[in-house]
Amino acid sequence: MNLEQHFDAAVHGAEPPLALAPMQDVTHLPFWRIMARYGGVDLYYTEYMRVHSVSRPERWIVDSILQNPTGQPVIAQIIGNDIPSILRTIPLLQALPIAAIDLNLGCPAPVVYKKCAGGGLLRELPLVDRLLGAMRDAIPGRFTVKTRIGFDDPVTDALIPLLQKHRPDLVTVHGRTVLEMYRGGIHYDHIRHIAEALPCPVLANGNVSTPDMAAETLRLTGAKGLMIGRGAIRNPWIFQQIRRHREGKPVPLPSGRDVLGYIHELWEETWHSESIETGHVHSMKRYLNFIGAGITGDGQFLNQIRRAPGKSEFFAICRDYLDHHEPMTLEPPAGLVQKGACGTNHQL
Ligand SMILES: Cc1cc2nc3c(=O)[nH]c(=O)nc-3n(C[C@H](O)[C@H](O)[C@H](O)COP(=O)(O)O)c2cc1C
Repeated sequence: MNLEQHFDAAVHGAEPPLALAPMQDVTHLPFWRIMARYGGVDLYYTEYMRVHSVSRPERWIVDSILQNPTGQPVIAQIIGNDIPSILRTIPLLQALPIAAIDLNLGCPAPVVYKKCAGGGLLRELPLVDRLLGAMRDAIPGRFTVKTRIGFDDPVTDALIPLLQKHRPDLVTVHGRTVLEMYRGGIHYDHIRHIAEALPCPVLANGNVSTPDMAAETLRLTGAKGLMIGRGAIRNPWIFQQIRRHREGKPVPLPSGRDVLGYIHELWEETWHSESIETGHVHSMKRYLNFIGAGITGDGQFLNQIRRAPGKSEFFAICRDYLDHHEPMTLEPPAGLVQKGACGTNHQL
């Protein structure tokens, strides 16, 4: 089976396709290795590659694609609005072992949207029309889109005809506007509207953190499958749990020690030849910001972790909270907002 057949099998199968969301500084090789070990997903997205007049695909993202350890298709995501640069980049990406190229229409970071890229494009639908057309014509293989539902207000009524016209092979919808960032509930009705209108499969995205929420999201949206981001950092077992839940089998919960083991794996996998201990403790906090919210709802664990100066203090705090056999749901408390990547706030 070639990569495109593999993609088709993943998105058109009987079971809902499950995708790991693209996440800057997270969804690279070490994290993919861990996810594959914890049961894996059907589709892996790279974090976005910036495309402009002098860009080249970022080296570490290319390395992740070349060494893809998951056995599953990888989709290369790009962000940008300059059609000639995108057309120049497409063959560079297609020389890599990818199953599809994805266009980002959702990034809510002001530094991105103010340049009319990512979510900023949802204010410029005539440009989206040209971009989608140019990409569809230039990509002989699979072409996918990841979008929010609008910039300040939903624009799904205007976006749908463009998606129908340019026929992407898969569309992911994060059910919020750009200005909603990561706050508030998901507009399931808008995801449903898009899913019902398009001939291609649609993945629903946003706030899935338990197998029950996965089932509810599929029910409310009628989407073919799901994309999960922060819920997977917090709980790498989530995809396996969703599959068990769908089979009607009991869903095993990880114990504190399992979560401790996962944090140790993150430490080991992300350590590289140039790592130094203090820097590595700092970079682990990128994951712990998300994991921590599933450990204590009151923020105590995170407050302590954020002050940990070195490895021994870092793991001593982890052991204090996690060296036990009690089952953990790893659900975040409702309404917690934290600083995340790209200067945005990622509501947990
Ligand atoms: C740390 C972080 C980095 C992200 N980077 C990207 C990215 O590079 N490309 C993208 O399309 N979305 C990015 N997102 C958005 C996620 O892909 C996803 O749409 C969002 O987190 C909502 O899904 P969730 O509630 O399952 O996390 C990022 C999100 C987070 C938390």
